[in-house]
Amino acid sequence: MMRITLLLHFGLLLSFCQAQTGGDEAAEEEHVELFTTPTAKMGAATSDFGYNLFRALASRDASTNVFLSPLSVSAALTQLSMGTSESAERQLHRALRYHTLQDPQLHNTLKDLLASVRTAGKGLSAAARIYLAKRLRLKQDFFSLVEQQYGVRPKQLMGGARDMKDINDWVSQETGGKVQRLLAKPLPRNSGVNTVSAAYFKGKWATRFSQSGALENFQVDGGMPVRVPMMQQDNYPVKMGADSDLSCTIAQIQMQDDVSMFIFLPDDVSANTTLLEESLTAEFVQDLSMTLLPAQVSLTLPVLSFSYSTDVMPLLGELGLSDWLNNQELEKISPQPARLGSINHKVVMETVPEGNQYASTASPPSHLAYRVDRPFLFLIRDETSGALLFIGRVVNPKDLRI
Ligand SMILES: *[C@@H]1O[C@H](CO)[C@@H](O)[C@H](O)[C@H]1NC(C)=O
Repeated sequence: MMRITLLLHFGLLLSFCQAQTGGDEAAEEEHVELFTTPTAKMGAATSDFGYNLFRALASRDASTNVFLSPLSVSAALTQLSMGTSESAERQLHRALRYHTLQDPQLHNTLKDLLASVRTAGKGLSAAARIYLAKRLRLKQDFFSLVEQQYGVRPKQLMGGARDMKDINDWVSQETGGKVQRLLAKPLPRNSGVNTVSAAYFKGKWATRFSQSGALENFQVDGGMPVRVPMMQQDNYPVKMGADSDLSCTIAQIQMQDDVSMFIFLPDDVSANTTLLEESLTAEFVQDLSMTLLPAQVSLTLPVLSFSYSTDVMPLLGELGLSDWLNNQELEKISPQPARLGSINHKVVMETVPEGNQYASTASPPSHLAYRVDRPFLFLIRDETSGALLFIGRVVNPKDLRI
């Protein structure tokens, strides 16, 4: 009976998804209504930047695991934008999607958003800072401007072997010791301006998993299954839906303090996820969250525990910043021509089976299974603000480690 109801629901969802694909103007209008408060608009803007960044990174190689905590990259680039000419700032803000906001209090709104997603219960710690080369003559106003606004003072480097350790120590300290060795090698000698950003996420489920750690098969594309630890729970309350256009089933799993994880599980192990990646926007996910329907499922998830680092500098061209790269105008940072050299980003995430509620044992186990045992995409979203906290593509969990 349960199953039939769900299938009916899926039918409804299907027509919903199809309705969504018509008419861009309609979508544009809806945007205005979906995000009303400054915080919600900022949440949407940072998420859209995050999806763009994720697409740029994910499309470099479709066969790799990819992870980002884009909000901390937004924070780093926003700090940088405080040091540029007005026209360069406009270009950076466009890439960061701030041009949609029309928010004169932009920096305060971002500061409030960052503070709200970093409250202890949500499980996110994040850090972002600008580092400047020793050789640059620097304008002191820039240091105080950024520090006053974001509580993080840009730092001038000493120009020696200690710099790498200094940066890594700061990141480690800001993330409770969880993000170690952000830089694996020293910054390039000639780089003038560098940003670092990092995030650690260890969210707690609303509903706990009773079984965890058993090794089970995870199908990888074009290879033998790999054995990875999984978490399992019957009658797990999720919100669910199927998207026939994207050929995937979506589950939203509630975490504590109004955070949730969305999983996009393609129907097929060898599915091409390009279309799915292309469709991710703040608006799409917001619509989705209002459309998914409650269900109880037998839920099986890989136990994820990993670190991932990347320099997103080579992706800026794809974010519409080609012109800016040639003309950065960091004139409020230094009277000398200074250039951005790197945007190092490192994330660490852990999942554990704990949660503060138990799944229902009153009813017999649901026949509906949601088994995440093949490549998938996931995102972690702060439901209060709509901000994207974390996004990832898991192609082969066997390759993941901290
Ligand atoms: C995946 O699909 C996109 C278009 O949706 C196509 O451009 C791309 O080449 C495909 N990738 C692979 C590996 O087949």
